[in-house]
Amino acid sequence: MDKKSLMELLDSLTLNEKIGQLSQVHPTVLFEDGIVTGVINDNTFSEEHIKNIGSVINIFGKDKIRAVQENHLKNSKIPLLFMADVIVGYDVIFPSGLSQGCTFDPELIKKLSRISATEMAADGVNVTFSPMVDLCRDARWGRVSESYGEDVLLNCKMAEAVVKGYQGDDLNALDTVSACVKHFAAYSAPVSGRDYNSVDMSERTLRQEYLRSYKAAVDAGSEMLMTSFNTIAGVPCTIDKRLVKDILRDEWGFKGVVITDHGSLGEQYSTGHGVASNSAEVAKFAIDATVDIEMAGDCLFKNIQNLIQEGKLSEDQIDAAVFRILELKNKLGLFEDPYKYIDNDLYEKIDRQQNLEVAKRAVVEGSVLLKNEDSALPINPESTKVAFIGPYLSCDVTSPVWSFHLKNRIVGPTMENYLKENYPDSDFTYSFGCPILDNGDWVSEFCQEDNDEYFKNEDRYIADAVEKAKNADIVVLALGEHYAYHGESKSRADIRLHKIQRDLVDKIYEANQNITAVIFSGRPLDITDISKKLKSILFVWEPGSMAAEGITDMLFGKELPSGKLSMCIPYCVGQMPIHYSELRTGRYAELGQKHSFGSRFVDAPIKPLYPFGYGLTYTTFEYSDLKIDKTTLTPDSEITVTVSVKNTGQRDAWEIVQMYTHDVVAYMVSRPMKELKDFKRVFIKAGETAQVSFKITEDMLRFYNYDMVYESESGEFEVFVGPDSETTDCVTFTLEK
Ligand code: GLC
Repeated sequence: MDKKSLMELLDSLTLNEKIGQLSQVHPTVLFEDGIVTGVINDNTFSEEHIKNIGSVINIFGKDKIRAVQENHLKNSKIPLLFMADVIVGYDVIFPSGLSQGCTFDPELIKKLSRISATEMAADGVNVTFSPMVDLCRDARWGRVSESYGEDVLLNCKMAEAVVKGYQGDDLNALDTVSACVKHFAAYSAPVSGRDYNSVDMSERTLRQEYLRSYKAAVDAGSEMLMTSFNTIAGVPCTIDKRLVKDILRDEWGFKGVVITDHGSLGEQYSTGHGVASNSAEVAKFAIDATVDIEMAGDCLFKNIQNLIQEGKLSEDQIDAAVFRILELKNKLGLFEDPYKYIDNDLYEKIDRQQNLEVAKRAVVEGSVLLKNEDSALPINPESTKVAFIGPYLSCDVTSPVWSFHLKNRIVGPTMENYLKENYPDSDFTYSFGCPILDNGDWVSEFCQEDNDEYFKNEDRYIADAVEKAKNADIVVLALGEHYAYHGESKSRADIRLHKIQRDLVDKIYEANQNITAVIFSGRPLDITDISKKLKSILFVWEPGSMAAEGITDMLFGKELPSGKLSMCIPYCVGQMPIHYSELRTGRYAELGQKHSFGSRFVDAPIKPLYPFGYGLTYTTFEYSDLKIDKTTLTPDSEITVTVSVKNTGQRDAWEIVQMYTHDVVAYMVSRPMKELKDFKRVFIKAGETAQVSFKITEDMLRFYNYDMVYESESGEFEVFVGPDSETTDCVTFTLEK
């Protein structure tokens, strides 16, 4: 439909029809047991309002979507939008966002989103509430699992890749969906790492660090954006005109649809943020901020008509919001054919095996080898007696939490079943060892974790594991955080593995010191104590459908783990929040070690156990000849930095070469000690040397200066190039403006 026709459609709508477009409802409002019955449950929505609803959330499957759309179109001339949380794939489940960040491979991540978009679009879903690009520097926050980690540039690159993967070149195509970047803004920096808690930061940190990835998604063309639950400096983001209208729309030029997070408008009263005494005020705040859709709430529905009659809102404001929603439906082609995404056999034709192969590559590229003493890995399955022990051997919950609600998700085999099926003749033994959770853990109830039989026979289980460990050449422990301990509203004050698993490591270590650990987790964990007892550590996060095959192939060397940490593994929870691109402070930690007045802890190091950008593989690399082609940069020139990287091991492998800059002195504003400015994945054959080069231009050096103007300043810069954020190889140049 052209713009003129769309305007005519808008003009033809009654005010009620317009207000309906601004509401998104949960399926339970529309049907029971899949049968469309109109409004059910004790919703405040009227039957009239339901008939005018603009979109629904988390309805899956062609049949159900057809039924709901058909029922809706009996009473409305505007098709519903079907939006859903499709975060890590739809049928084929990919590794978590944090693991995807560890790939440092935006092209691969774009491919994952392309696959995800095809599967969900072919099943009738039009919009996905993804990418989540919240910058994460506090592992206590349970939703770090969904993010792309602690670094601004990596988040920006992933945001762009995911949006382009979902939306492709044509939103009207049958295999594309609208992205919805979230959670705007800085939701990931709550005080004490506690989900939904207040966020407090300077405007400089907000703009310089936290807003950049949302802007990258907007610049990549994200059609939608979701506001966040939290306040920033006491102001709730979801109704903040300065954040949503002034920055997102007026400054960044975002013309897409803004949706609230689930029920967040209803959290503004005295029982919540306490910024409005009634829902009418909240509705006015939201519309003035140019929020378009209220997810799962009735604030807009209940108040807009009155606010217009009272002259507190104009119908033009409502028209602007409704028009943005109509435009999105139009881009998706829903006016021409509301059933276009389900009236075809694309879903049935999808080559899931091919998609699973891509998922496996993501497991391999997203897993991080943290330690590999005496080259304990890879294991030769033909000649090594291996005792596989631990709860994650038989656990089939190896996918990210944002996949459990997907009806056709491919779970994949457990590690134990995969090993038994594919290595029947190898000299392997298997032992449960212990459950994931401690006895009586509160989570057991709602996860129906029935470990009573174990705890009645704990000694027998432990004896079995110890015996098998004693008789093996090497032990592979499959350990991990329980899936109910990360994700939304799952912040932790203690980020160690559950005690029962830590005790298992101690017991196994007494029987055999040749231990490799495969660790499944939604967040970086404090593994400092147990790591001393482990020869090698392979951190696999939440690996998804291809967990078993991907991990096994890495253990046996068929695949080489190539991931590098998108978020550091801390020394302990007391370091939170922690990230590599910190400011020096006036009393940097090195001072503290020698004198008593430095920025340090007296009971822990200030460096993480394993830093951002760190990761090993089954070969070694040597960096040399770091060079810069000129020592002066001007706004119209560019500098080339080159480094030699030699594969000094026996295996051909990938290396992720990273370039960081440091603005040595800036006028009145302290600058981070390092900032990642580029990275390259290079494949280097054993014994060969690659020349890796990076370009530096003036625009890469801009920051929010003392006057909060985003520009660069003349002066000296250091350039670091190396395998991780703790690299010290450095050259310098001067920017002259
Ligand atoms: C949740 C989450 C958001 C999700 C939305 C819809 O509260 O914050 O990420 O997309 O609700 O399920």
